[in-house]
Formats: sequence, C-alpha cells, structure tokens
Amino acid sequence: MEDQLIAEEIKKLKKERNAIILAHFYTRREVREVADFVGDSLSLCREAVNSKAEVIVFAGVHFMAESASILSPEKLVLLPVPDAGCPMADMVTVKALREEKEKHPEAAVVCYVNSSAAVKAESDICCTSANAINVVNSVENREIIFVPDKNLGAFVALHTEKKIHLWPGFCHVHENIGDEEIKELKKMHPGAEFLAHPECRPEVLNLADHILSTSGIIKEAEKSDSTEFIIGTEKEIVKNLNRKYPDKKFYPASEKAFCYNMKKITLESILNSLQNMEYEVHVPEHIRVKAKKALDRMLEIRGN
Ligand code: 13P
Ligand code: SF4
Repeated sequence: MEDQLIAEEIKKLKKERNAIILAHFYTRREVREVADFVGDSLSLCREAVNSKAEVIVFAGVHFMAESASILSPEKLVLLPVPDAGCPMADMVTVKALREEKEKHPEAAVVCYVNSSAAVKAESDICCTSANAINVVNSVENREIIFVPDKNLGAFVALHTEKKIHLWPGFCHVHENIGDEEIKELKKMHPGAEFLAHPECRPEVLNLADHILSTSGIIKEAEKSDSTEFIIGTEKEIVKNLNRKYPDKKFYPASEKAFCYNMKKITLESILNSLQNMEYEVHVPEHIRVKAKKALDRMLEIRGN
C-alpha cells in the first residue's frame, strides 16, 4: 500500500479506537506526520498523562511506552514493534543498581527515563535530558547515584555541588559523535553554532556553544540569529530542521548518529498496531506504583 493510503487508514482507525499516536523526534518523517503529538522524552511523558484518549500508540522505543503506561494505567499503551528497545536502557539492571545502592547508602538514585520500569521503581526520582540539572539539584541528599548515562551524569556533575556516582552506560548514537569530527566541521563552517545533546561525550560537549535536549536544540535553532548550525544529536533532527528553516543550514555532527531502534517504527507497523491492538506494554502493578512515584516527582520539576 502507498504511504498516503496507509496514513488515511491510520487516521480512520485512530478515530474508531479513540487512539492517539505519540512520536519521538527521532522517528521517521512519515511516522511523525501521522502523529498527534511529536516531542522529546519529557514532553511525551507529559502528553501521555494529559491525553483523554483510551489508546496510546507509542512511536518510539520500549521505555517510552512503559513510561506512558506507568503514568496512565487506565489507557491501553501499544508499541508497534515490540523489539524497538534502547540499548542504553539495558545497561542498568535492578540487581546491579541494588549493589551500587549498598555501596553508597547515603545516596539518592536519579534515573534517566531511558531505563526499564523495574529500574525506575528502584530509583528516587527520574529525569530527562531537559530537566536533569534541576532534578539533581532538587534532591536533598548530597550524594547521587546517576543511572544509566555516564555522559549526561558527567554533564550534570559540572552544574551541581553534589557528589555524583556515575554509571558506565551510554547511548551509541551520541557516543558515535567524535571531537575530531567536530573540529573538522568547525573548520569547514567557521560561523556555525554547535548545538550538542548532553548524551554526547565530555570532549564533544567541551566544543559546544549550547548543550541542550532535543527540543532545546530545535528551539535554539529557531530563535538564534545564526544561519549555520552543527547538530550534535540523532541526524533525523538535521533533516527536519533543514526542511523547517530553509534559510538556515544544518549539518549533522556525524553521519553515524543514527538510532536504528527508533527507525523500526514504520507506517505499516502503526497500521498493524491499530488493526490488531498490539503490542500491549504492561507494567506489573507492584513495579508500576513505585516507578510512578519516581516519574511523578520528576514531572513536578521544571524542564527546558
Ligand atoms: P530527549 O528526548 O530527552 O532529548 O532524549 C534523547 C534520546 O536519546 C531519546 O531516546
Ligand atoms: Fe536509546 Fe540513544 Fe536511541 Fe535514544 S537515541 S533510544 S538513548 S539508543
């Protein structure tokens, strides 16, 4: 079937099922075009809570659908491709986190939303890249175990008095961006602003003009007077920005900054999801209740 026909069928089924589609910025263009809301991790969490729909089809990765289900258990949450996961989220397990907590009994656990529901349930508060500094500074404890992203954790550590115990997790998409590549790009485009996501390595962040979440990068590109930008995040954002602002130029920090898990979500998989009401993401109640506390605490904190 052609994309347009699939999109029309999706629209019809969305109405029939009282469903909405939430999509992350890193998903394919045609997927974002059928979505009711497109955003970064923080705004998607807020949207999942506020929506009146009975069904949420999550065009993103597994932990995002889990967060929607944790926050809105009365809704049916569907992930169109069940193995669309996040390798970074798999880098921390409950067992390993419990061992770390034993080593640092005075520390609070701040958990990046890119983590499983079970890990969230073991944590005091969640954060996203848009609110991580505010979240860490909101916690009373002087010591923090920050899981699972070592790069985001190291970035936060520069903006707080607290002692941060880093976890060795990372996102391969952002880890693939190298400082030498950035130096080369800066030589080629000397007037360009370099906007980097805090999941990038510290040596890359050292070269950045602004360190921002995905939506922060998009907002900065819009409001800045600069006409050229090097974009240090998943390269879908670059295509999107080049289309949205044809008078400005956006260059990917690396051609390797590609999240193949986000790209697993296709129009066909969304159609199948709505036709067959699959694949349901369900979090066991004893985990959900604890994980919700950590997410709710986060949602009280301001993001950027
Ligand atoms: P944000 O959506 O918070 O910018 O995070 C990027 C990311 O890697 C999502 O998986
Ligand atoms: Fe995970 Fe990185 Fe993909 Fe986000 S971009 S889903 S952190 S692998």
